[in-house]
Amino acid sequence: MSQSSNPTTTPAERGQCQTIDLAGKIAQINKHWQPRVVAEMNDYQFKVVKVEGEFPWHRHADTDETFVVLEGELRIDVRGGPSGDDTIVLRAGQMAVVPKGIEHRPRANAEVKMLLIEPRGVVNTGDGAKGERTVENDQWI
Ligand code: NI
Repeated sequence: MSQSSNPTTTPAERGQCQTIDLAGKIAQINKHWQPRVVAEMNDYQFKVVKVEGEFPWHRHADTDETFVVLEGELRIDVRGGPSGDDTIVLRAGQMAVVPKGIEHRPRANAEVKMLLIEPRGVVNTGDGAKGERTVENDQWI
């Protein structure tokens, strides 16, 4: 279902006051690296996505980004983070926050299902040039 994420929409339209089945939502997505919004909290969006392979290096100048892994094993390579150049490994039930401005590259050897939490309007490929992996924002499922 397509809908606006305008903050003046009703709670129901923002995915609130209802059970949201993350696995069920992800099952409706048929392509990798295609985040879909399932709910909003204030100005933040919860997005489900399934990924496999390597995403381009990118950064988000204005926002931190949260990854919550639901299934599989995700690696996030980080350049110049608090521990220098590093790789964060996340398995089901684990999460990490990548700070704003830090270059990062998510990758997965096998399919990973996860939840992303970030402000409304964040572009998945960050601040650089748009590429084939860039997806349109505010696509609800
Ligand atoms: Ni990112």
